[in-house]
Amino acid sequence: MRKDEHIKRAWDAASRAWVDFVRTGKDYTRDRLNNPAAFDMIGSVEGLIVLDLACGEGYNTRILARRGARVTGVDFSERLIEYARAEEEKERLGIQYYVRDAIDVTGLTDSYFDLVTCFMALQDVAEYRKAISEVSRVLKPRCRFVFSIPHPCFETIVLNGKKANVSTRYFEQAEYTIQWSMERLSIPFSTIAFHRTLTDYFDALYRNSLKVSRLVEPRLTEKACQQYPCLEGILHRPQAVIIEAKKTIF
Ligand SMILES: C[S@@+](CC[C@H](N)C(=O)[O-])C[C@H]1O[C@@H](n2cnc3c(N)ncnc32)[C@H](O)[C@@H]1O
Repeated sequence: MRKDEHIKRAWDAASRAWVDFVRTGKDYTRDRLNNPAAFDMIGSVEGLIVLDLACGEGYNTRILARRGARVTGVDFSERLIEYARAEEEKERLGIQYYVRDAIDVTGLTDSYFDLVTCFMALQDVAEYRKAISEVSRVLKPRCRFVFSIPHPCFETIVLNGKKANVSTRYFEQAEYTIQWSMERLSIPFSTIAFHRTLTDYFDALYRNSLKVSRLVEPRLTEKACQQYPCLEGILHRPQAVIIEAKKTIF
């Protein structure tokens, strides 16, 4: 059995609840905070060949395709890919979906993609260094990897059943459970993620010839906060960080 089998199982088990969360406007931080900043950084994708790594049920994959990219989406959860494919049946955007582990995107050609995206998912990938090495393999030279992760300096994690703020144990890598139990969810669920330092991510990028070119900490507006008072806790601190890195080997 693979050592991160429990992570995959958690995502398969959460798939229906996740789809409900994402597709019914309940993922406020995605819609109000992270996507505007991430898509601003990504810019025009018209005509680009894009890989959306750990694409889940494909919400952002479809945005990329609607903006004119030729998109491939991969995720290791069979259930989430089924949901993504079912949506593609309803709205044909030309997206190819594959069940693949981010650490081994077998079948995807070297130096093929103009852009690789990975939205709020690298923190869930157990072997993130291998995943970053795959990103570098499939990206064309001089092309970009844009990814977002929960801001490692401000995560609140559940360790041994207790809520802990990582700022007290920032340097310790840790596997933790995320309990998705906000009131607005019709079905609560839990998934597994990893706390790592910014240095960990930057080092993996550096070792795979991915040179960081931009970093953005999306900031909530007062207006969005008034609309969604439950987001007040992140008005004065970043919830996520979005990073752009360019492949420097030719
Ligand atoms: C928080 S969700 C984000 C999904 C999607 N990127 C989005 O923005 O909706 C994290 C995703 O990472 C996927 N994932 C975690 N580990 C993975 C791995 N090793 N390989 C591929 N996908 C993985 C999960 O199945 C899940 O779909």
